[in-house]
Amino acid sequence: SIPIFTTVKAYREWRRQAYTEKKSVGFVATMGALHEGHVSLVRRSLAENDLTVVSIFVNPAQFAPTEDLTTYPRTLQHDLQVLEATRHLDTAVPRTTAALFLPAVHEMYPSGITQNVTAQKGTFVEVKGYGQQMEGMSRPTFFRGVSTVVTKLFNIVEPTKTYFGQKDIQQALLLRRMVSDLLLSHPTPENLHIIPTSRDRKTSLALSSRNAYLSPAERELAAPTLYAALQEARRSWESGLPKSECIIRARELVRLRAEELAASSDKIEMRLDYIELNDPDTFEQLPDATTRVAYALDSAEGEYMKDRPVIVSGAMWVGKTRLIDNMVLGDV
Ligand code: PAJ
Repeated sequence: SIPIFTTVKAYREWRRQAYTEKKSVGFVATMGALHEGHVSLVRRSLAENDLTVVSIFVNPAQFAPTEDLTTYPRTLQHDLQVLEATRHLDTAVPRTTAALFLPAVHEMYPSGITQNVTAQKGTFVEVKGYGQQMEGMSRPTFFRGVSTVVTKLFNIVEPTKTYFGQKDIQQALLLRRMVSDLLLSHPTPENLHIIPTSRDRKTSLALSSRNAYLSPAERELAAPTLYAALQEARRSWESGLPKSECIIRARELVRLRAEELAASSDKIEMRLDYIELNDPDTFEQLPDATTRVAYALDSAEGEYMKDRPVIVSGAMWVGKTRLIDNMVLGDV
């Protein structure tokens, strides 16, 4: 069965052994409630490394006082079964399952941790200038919590390679910048890999631990609207419309669907938080009047960059649950 480390000390002994045996260590950081999206990261890690470590830690520092820290799904028995099942993923090569790192809050935060940012004491990591845009607009302290905990996890795990999901594109790109800015060697920026979003086969809904909050009707009928809205924005952008018009069309799609659902017997409440188009280098919003051609011309290199990448992202409320999703056009 799966090796489980609940202390930093126990993990470090195992890591030292891996160094001695010159074994590479792949790492997937999670908050648990594992689903196929997490598994796709683990699968990549198992395929590309001698050993794999998955961490499960619900990080208090990335939840605002108004957010769902206490109710966030904690499903350890299920998570163990999911990881155990990865043993059978790759039959060609006999692989060990991932090891699990399951730290306690007091070990991750020796100076203590409170969700009240102004009362926090101790050491925090902030990627300045990149945490207030996009998701950071509605969650201003979120990325500080994420960069802090991931720095700690990297310092403990010392991963050769690490895997993050495109589902949280700003998180992945911000962490890659952090790794570069802090000159980390475990991992190096090149060894931080971004893995495509896993979606529900039938509805294309992006898999997420927070989908567990949704009723079956909300999950089947309402939640997939976010991805449909992103697709609408993308189509509009690719057809040459200015950004503001792309967003209006996406919003309208959600508004119409929300009206339908509010009137239906399920009485589902759904509301778009935002849809935006952002530059993946700066995370800044594209100006309203920008079209695809204008954006390609305005590249920093001062030349025409046909496939200058852009992030189309959004967040939507379904009842009391906030869902996010994105598409990346071009390569990041
Ligand atoms: P969590 O939401 O558990 O996600 C863990 C990792 O799985 C992240 O890299 C996330 O982007 C990825 N992931 C989630 N859903 C996915 C999907 N449908 N397809 C592909 N990848 C998916 O993100 C966090 O935890 C935390 O912020 C963490 C990085 C662990 C720091 O606390």
